[in-house]
Amino acid sequence: MPVARRPLVAGNWKMNGLRHSGAELLAMIEGCGAPLAEKVDLLICPPATLLAQFAAEAAGSPIAVGGQDCHKKASGAHTGDVSAEMLADAGARFVIVGHSERRSDHQESDETVRAKAQAAWRTGLTAIVCVGETQAQREAGEALAVVAAQVRGSVPDGASADTLVVAYEPVWAIGSGLVPTVEDVEEMHGEIRRVLSERAGAEAARVRILYGGSVKPENCTALLNAADVDGALVGGASLKAGDFLAIARAYL
Ligand code: PGA
Repeated sequence: MPVARRPLVAGNWKMNGLRHSGAELLAMIEGCGAPLAEKVDLLICPPATLLAQFAAEAAGSPIAVGGQDCHKKASGAHTGDVSAEMLADAGARFVIVGHSERRSDHQESDETVRAKAQAAWRTGLTAIVCVGETQAQREAGEALAVVAAQVRGSVPDGASADTLVVAYEPVWAIGSGLVPTVEDVEEMHGEIRRVLSERAGAEAARVRILYGGSVKPENCTALLNAADVDGALVGGASLKAGDFLAIARAYL
């Protein structure tokens, strides 16, 4: 019997949002409605400066909040960094690790990403581990192998559906308006689940695998209902309550 996985639609606000953006979060909370909340987990990952404010605003609502990155250590002399413990203390329940912008802007390796995921687990956060190939890698026919290697290198041992979410985000689809075909997404998600099962056995069937990269209200229905796709990691379109909720409604 196939395993039922509860969809997760997550918003990655990246380096966007000021205190007044709390109004957008409130609009999401007000607009989401019971039928949606019953079917879909909703998550917003604002910049670290807004985390405590958003967690307070979203307390008791169907929307969880999460961080966008964490340091591997709990505390110490690391100017400008934020630890998983700090995110949890501010009210986060999830943290994104290994986003392609972190991998390219900050030269994060799979090993670094794995250490960050372990840091998330140390403090009870669910890690959303991001993987994805570049355009050149896809054109060279290397996409499946590149992503499989990223999963093997970035996901720590001992993953469970409660502690791990994987986000497949082709680098060339992020912020570009381009999206892969549904067939390519299904092939990649199937491969990610197969690689996860090498590590996590039967538990891999319960782990949620999100698609990310230019998900919009106009293209979400086919992507989110594809085989092995258990939700979305949404960048630009998560900044507006109407668009974010329209995407989540793909599951209604
Ligand atoms: P996008 O970003 O939806 O703006 O393409 C997705 C992401 O980077 O998580």
